[in-house]
Amino acid sequence: MHCFLLLLLATTCFFSLHLCLALDSLTFTKPIKDSETLVSQGGRFRFGFFSTIKSKNKYVGIWFSDVSPQTVVWVANKNTPISDSYGVISISNDGNLMVTNGLGQVFWSSNVSAPLVANASKARLMDSGNLVLQGNNGETLWESFNYPSDTFLPGMKLGKDSKAGENRKITSWKSLDNPSPGSYSFGISPLKFPELYIWEKELPKWRTGPWNGQAFIGSRRNPRKRFKGFNLEKDNQGKMLLSYEESSLMFHFKLEPEGVLHEKAWNKEKQEWSSGPDVPGPPCNSYGKCGEFGICSFNETVPCKCVKGFVPKNQTEWSGENWRSGCVRKEPLHCDRGSNNNWIKRDVFMKLEMIKVPISVEFSEANENGCEKTCVDDCNCTAYAFNDVNGCMLWRRSLLDLQDYMRNGIALYIRVASSSAVSSKQTHTHIVKISIGIAVALVGIALSVLSVFIWLRFAKRRGKNRNARLVFQMIEASSTVSNVSGSIFLNQPKLEELPLFEFQMLATATDNFALTNKLGQGGFGVVYKGKLQEGQEIAVKRLSQDSGQGLEELMNEVIVISKLQHRNLVKLLGCCIEGEERMLVYEFMPKKSLDHYLFGQQEQTLLDWKTRFNIINGICRGLVYLHRDSRLRIIHRDLKVSNILLDEHMNPKISDFGLAKIFHINEDEANTSRVIGTYGYMSPEYAMRGLFSEKSDVFSLGVIILEIVSGRKNSSFFNDDKNMHLLDYAWKLWNDGEATALADPRIYDKSFENEIRRCVHIGLLCVQDHSNDRPCVSTVISMLGSENIDLPEPKQPAFVAKWDAEKRASFNDVSVTAVSGR
Ligand SMILES: *[C@@H]1O[C@H](CO)[C@@H](O)[C@H](O)[C@H]1NC(C)=O
Ligand SMILES: *[C@@H]1O[C@H](CO)[C@@H](O)[C@H](O)[C@H]1NC(C)=O
Ligand SMILES: *[C@@H]1O[C@H](CO)[C@@H](O)[C@H](O)[C@H]1NC(C)=O
Ligand SMILES: *[C@@H]1O[C@H](CO)[C@@H](O)[C@H](O)[C@H]1NC(C)=O
Ligand SMILES: *[C@@H]1O[C@H](CO)[C@@H](O)[C@H](O)[C@H]1NC(C)=O
Repeated sequence: MHCFLLLLLATTCFFSLHLCLALDSLTFTKPIKDSETLVSQGGRFRFGFFSTIKSKNKYVGIWFSDVSPQTVVWVANKNTPISDSYGVISISNDGNLMVTNGLGQVFWSSNVSAPLVANASKARLMDSGNLVLQGNNGETLWESFNYPSDTFLPGMKLGKDSKAGENRKITSWKSLDNPSPGSYSFGISPLKFPELYIWEKELPKWRTGPWNGQAFIGSRRNPRKRFKGFNLEKDNQGKMLLSYEESSLMFHFKLEPEGVLHEKAWNKEKQEWSSGPDVPGPPCNSYGKCGEFGICSFNETVPCKCVKGFVPKNQTEWSGENWRSGCVRKEPLHCDRGSNNNWIKRDVFMKLEMIKVPISVEFSEANENGCEKTCVDDCNCTAYAFNDVNGCMLWRRSLLDLQDYMRNGIALYIRVASSSAVSSKQTHTHIVKISIGIAVALVGIALSVLSVFIWLRFAKRRGKNRNARLVFQMIEASSTVSNVSGSIFLNQPKLEELPLFEFQMLATATDNFALTNKLGQGGFGVVYKGKLQEGQEIAVKRLSQDSGQGLEELMNEVIVISKLQHRNLVKLLGCCIEGEERMLVYEFMPKKSLDHYLFGQQEQTLLDWKTRFNIINGICRGLVYLHRDSRLRIIHRDLKVSNILLDEHMNPKISDFGLAKIFHINEDEANTSRVIGTYGYMSPEYAMRGLFSEKSDVFSLGVIILEIVSGRKNSSFFNDDKNMHLLDYAWKLWNDGEATALADPRIYDKSFENEIRRCVHIGLLCVQDHSNDRPCVSTVISMLGSENIDLPEPKQPAFVAKWDAEKRASFNDVSVTAVSGR
């Protein structure tokens, strides 16, 4: 009878492993084996053995408990994986936490040297994700938060405990498959006013600008009122610790293997991490991108320009878009004081507004007026700035890492020769300065009122979970205007912001919309070529008349879309709204669209591999801008080769973006009853269920990549098999280990084999059936850029055949608008 009970108990245990083993700590007498895990008390985290996607190696680490795919936040034996599956985590005889393999060899130890007592130590996994080694009285002997991996969790502290202490940072993995420390790290730079940095090896890759007691200066606005934000502990003994609080603990910052920092918040409904924009994001995506005295601006198609009064140091490099060598003064300075200390010749100071604080700042005790004088009197002083918290800031060398923030930032006064500032508005008198001061103050007040208003609305509308986005804004301190402000500021259409074309003018330009001028037809209307009276060539899209949108809304959308500027997007020049007519006017692209070159028959239009590879990269850059970096977060929804236009240098430009928004289908990543797109490029979840997200664009991107590599349409047949389309064929070749055979034979060259194989690989990753399996575009970019990165194995793509048997007959290149009864 007893035996039976025992057996029953054992079986129950076996079937509800979870229940029986849900311990949160291990002790000397209770080690854990390879197959077991500790679960924190609230169930948020797990600790135990895991393997990465591709390797069989065993690592010991901590991951989010109920999150799929497994999201590891900490690794113990980063450099020393165990190759058998008999590993044990235990308390050693000396009281330390240790990891041993099947043979009892030690692979990792907590390495605390103070005398510990084995049967008094206990390792406990806290609900914060911290693994703590406790002594007899619950005192902390060691904790994993002090040895971070690639993840910065709420409650963790980065920085230094004391002057001599090591500066604690998070460090990227080498690759998605290898947790040993990679080249990138993220943490705090312990300056007088500390800054956040991402380093590549030891060199800065990105920085925030100094801490002002509340945020890192230059952030576009300070979200502390709603979000508790970063917290900096600082004392005179050299302690400088950064942490943050977040109401939803399902949140973290992760430094990816390619050196990009992402904030991630768990989306319960979708059961996936929603990731904030890349930090650093394009175009000012690296430290000192524009060189000395160069200024990086988010607003321009060409991100770098020289500060006024400066010219490029090397014009050849500069025009070749290599801006690193920066700018030099047009005119030398004339800081010259005679023997009696009177000015013989003096320089002037030019004011730049809303600027990121450059590196190597020195802080002076001077007050606002004194600050200016200190800099004027010191001929070595190149610039100064003043704000209330940080006080007087001076620079004595060249200025590096300047960025134009477009809002917030500091006002920076740069020393230039008086002759460089001829339009001498810059040589301000005190009166001018005071009135500017008042104006700035007024604008400041207005902005704060407005932003409080925005916060309130934002808070109401989106609830707590959106805090994540705000954290990001605080640290990225830059880039684009967010959705929120976009919609508030645009409540009033500002007609003057966008050129309005008269109907008659466009009719004349296109010869009354003559058929001979027709360039193409898309899901949203017909495109005509036109020529304005001044001779400028334009492309006019005459929207079909069912946008379902009010005039004002339409104007708003058009204005916002017209502000999206990126070298890989076709530029919107203006619009025309008269009566029932709605037209958009674009720059004309004489080289036509990509399909013409890929599928055309003439030899002379053939694109070589290098050009194709550049085109793939360009498309990705344009797309990541739409998804991540633009103020609208646009999902294109009709991405295809005929929507990729080429400029005279064969740079790709995405066209037709934002139209889904104009056509009033702007539910965000949602369900729509109205499917717009092109069969063959549509992801299965979109075509069948109307579900769209960034990942449906990624699907289309995958098809485009495969088309570019192969030079064949997705709808063409392969191997004379009526059931074998591009995706099927690529998948077959991949499994046969012959991926490169997909390459267009007309341009194939063995020296590009690796690049071609990588593109096929990436293409297949993008067209995977399950949208969660597909990479996001920023990941695609880093995959394209790095030869050595380990890519995950693709899963079988969504076969067109499975979901589109009927549509196959009409399989062509025409966008469709289908309204499904829902
Ligand atoms: C433990 O400490 C010893 C000596 O202090 C050092 O050689 C060893 O690398 C350390 N091991 C780990 C895993 O940190
Ligand atoms: C620990 O071990 C020592 C000797 O092995 C024993 O005397 C002591 O009672 C043990 N303490 C606990 C808390 O089990
Ligand atoms: C962006 O640049 C344009 C022209 O270069 C300028 O007119 C506009 O004011 C800029 N926008 C912002 C927000 O700075
Ligand atoms: C400018 O840069 C180009 C390319 O790096 C180099 O060949 C040339 O010598 C440079 N010119 C000067 C004046 O430094
Ligand atoms: C300015 O720089 C020169 C050369 O670096 C140095 O000799 C001089 O002392 C500096 N002057 C001041 C006021 O710091």
